[in-house]
Amino acid sequence: MLDEVLAYLQPKPGGLYIDGTLGGGGHTAAILERCAPDGKVLGIDTDSQALARVGERLAEFVANGRLILAHGNFSDLAQIVEQTGFGDGKGVQGVLLDLGFSSDQMDNPDRGFAFSADGPLDMRLNQELPLTAADLVNGASEQELADIFWRYGEESRARQIARRIVREREKAPITRTAPLAALIAAGVPHKHGAIHPATRAFQALRIAVNRELERLETALPQIVDVLEGKTKGDEGESKEKGRMVIIAFHSLEDRIVKEYIRREAKDCLCPPRLPVCVCGHKARLRNLTNKPVTPGEQEIASNPRARSAKLRAAEITQNNS
Ligand SMILES: C[S@@+](CC[C@H](N)C(=O)[O-])C[C@H]1O[C@@H](n2cnc3c(N)ncnc32)[C@H](O)[C@@H]1O
Repeated sequence: MLDEVLAYLQPKPGGLYIDGTLGGGGHTAAILERCAPDGKVLGIDTDSQALARVGERLAEFVANGRLILAHGNFSDLAQIVEQTGFGDGKGVQGVLLDLGFSSDQMDNPDRGFAFSADGPLDMRLNQELPLTAADLVNGASEQELADIFWRYGEESRARQIARRIVREREKAPITRTAPLAALIAAGVPHKHGAIHPATRAFQALRIAVNRELERLETALPQIVDVLEGKTKGDEGESKEKGRMVIIAFHSLEDRIVKEYIRREAKDCLCPPRLPVCVCGHKARLRNLTNKPVTPGEQEIASNPRARSAKLRAAEITQNNS
């Protein structure tokens, strides 16, 4: 959704942008092009392999100081901005999150995200963190597993899958993706055109391993702080109303983004029965996408993984200029 990202982010020469999910660097490269000759991007990824690849691919921008790379989690956004000194206290004009995992991660069986290729049951976006999907699959109780599949995968067979896993792991630990996918899919007809029967359970494990929903919830208020120029070391000299653009790939993430933007776009959060406002809440955002923006047919045809993408954008209502 490159065109849509650029249309909402509106990168301009001299602007400062944060790509909180650098991935293969495709969005960052396009933002750097649009904010030339002197705009800058702070590119963050929790996966050090992704950073190393982009460091090579976009080496000229790293060398001329227009691309700053940071290994970290976007849930620590304010701290990363502070530590890198990004913006020299001038405020930030845009923040992008393109959530989930990249094709580099998905296509590498050693990372353990794919049910279609055999690999170790890993699924960590940040391989320096200790907990793997195999730890969860072999260590969580049947009830905990069922909760994970139900809550993070909206999987209607959550209990059945958890029971099968527990029965199987009593014989031997489950350490590879292919046997797990086979176990989950056993006896479930895979209808033509429908998603693979293991899709939801794999999604759920990935979300649980990487604590994806909590990290997103933690990041959102920090994004607004950074755009408003409220982080430490930032004197908020920005003249622009900064924008955030977030692409979600499943309804759980999209709901978090939608509800956060709606809430922060309201001046008062009091229950409707109260005659006067007692909360004093002031809108921090203007919602730019009442409905999520979805990819066009052409993009879905060339990249079927884009089919579930939903983009939402918002602009801050105030800055410190
Ligand atoms: C969909 S890809 C981004 C693709 C990128 N926009 C591009 O143009 O190539 C998502 C990337 O975000 C990273 N990621 C996911 N969650 C993260 C988090 N909480 N903090 C930092 N990076 C994260 C993943 O490691 C992955 O590289």
